[in-house]
Amino acid sequence: MVASHVASPLVSDLRETLKNATAAVLPGARADLERLVRIPSIWADPAHAEDTHRSAETVAELARTAGATSVRTVAADGGAPAVIAHWPAPQGQPTVLLYAHHDVQPTGGDQHWTSPPFQPTERDGRLYGRGAADDKAGVMTHLAVLRAYDGRPPVGVTLFIEGEEESGSPTLTALLAQHHDLLTADVIVIADAANPAVDVPALTTSLRGLVDCTVEVAMLQRPVHSGMSGGPIGDALTALCRLMTSLHDDEGEVAVPGLVHGSVATPDTDEATFRADAGLLDGVELLGCGSIPERIWHKPAAAVLGIDAPRVGEASNVLLPRARAMVSLRIAPGDDPVAAQRALTAHLEANVPWGARLTVTPGAGGAPFSLQAVGSPYDAARRAFAAAYGNDVVETGMGGSIPFIAEFARTFPGAAVLVTGVGDPASRWHGIDESLHLEMFGRGVLAEALLLAELTR
Ligand code: BES
Ligand code: MN
Ligand code: MN
Repeated sequence: MVASHVASPLVSDLRETLKNATAAVLPGARADLERLVRIPSIWADPAHAEDTHRSAETVAELARTAGATSVRTVAADGGAPAVIAHWPAPQGQPTVLLYAHHDVQPTGGDQHWTSPPFQPTERDGRLYGRGAADDKAGVMTHLAVLRAYDGRPPVGVTLFIEGEEESGSPTLTALLAQHHDLLTADVIVIADAANPAVDVPALTTSLRGLVDCTVEVAMLQRPVHSGMSGGPIGDALTALCRLMTSLHDDEGEVAVPGLVHGSVATPDTDEATFRADAGLLDGVELLGCGSIPERIWHKPAAAVLGIDAPRVGEASNVLLPRARAMVSLRIAPGDDPVAAQRALTAHLEANVPWGARLTVTPGAGGAPFSLQAVGSPYDAARRAFAAAYGNDVVETGMGGSIPFIAEFARTFPGAAVLVTGVGDPASRWHGIDESLHLEMFGRGVLAEALLLAELTR
């Protein structure tokens, strides 16, 4: 129907209509976003299981009122509740699967937030709150588009809102198997990524994968006096620290042998802006080598996310018998989570000092993903997004992970995958004071509304 970037009268009429229709639904969508943000759906924390169910129920209700002809809340194998809702395709039109997730990360300490994390608060054109960007903004983008179309989108729509993305989607395979037919689609739109600036739309073409593990080092049967035995007897926390330093070389490159390091030429980004966005302290060096995007999109990264050890204020003069760390590896496109987990374990076994006993317990894993943005759905997205944002689409990699994508792409190999979203560099995903840029949210809603129109046959 809409075939050209050049605005014919028909096209500009449609753009005007959708611009008005999306603008009209925006206040309600924002109110419902606030309603969702008030629910602390931290699925990874068992204390919030009930909240995550409440959050799924709220999404289901919003889908019903947005005109879905069927809405189900599903869960597999004790996994988190997901919502699958359907708007049937008009005769001859394709079906588009709209994905987002309704679970959120823990807050990182409510006391550190400028306003309470589950009390949505607007400041300077941004809506602050946990999940305001990642990914309840994605959930509400989809629902706002369906409302803008008054519940009758020009293509078939299946809304799939997952509840355990932040836990690595452990039961997704089972969900896909159980609801395969319900989830089949021609195009998959994943609203869970970010744009390089609030007026520059991105199509994300690569994401890293992820491998986590718990590393336990044991040295002694019990704590012993640090003066009586210290010296010849070492402590488990020092052994663990030595082991953790083996993850990088002196330049800060990941030193685990056997991981894929991509070398894709990318335009470099401005280092000062990058440092400021990340909040890096003056004088602190960047790790590794290559352009910054190359490092983030195409190379592995290793980090220690947590350590179980006595608190400093409670420490006493004993040598610690055991210590534990959570190690996280981001893996490059082209790598494989099973192979990377094996490489990491072998590396840890080879580097544990002093004959300490080592136990490595694999945790979450997710495959990396990359795609060629070639074909008519991608062209449709380029037209729709450029029209909504006023700037051309940039294709970009992302350092984060959405394990769902590779899994879905494997299950539905014929479907085109469009990775979009309404985060921006200031959104602080997973951090303190997460926020959504509200004007960009409006652009994102219009962009997706135009996209559905562009995807009609
Ligand atoms: N939406 C993010 C992933 C993301 C972040 C994509 C930034 C693009 C840009 C997602 O919610 C996320 O945080 N995923 C986890 C996956 C993990 C739990 C397996 C991640 O990357 O840590
Ligand atoms: Mn997300
Ligand atoms: Mn996330």
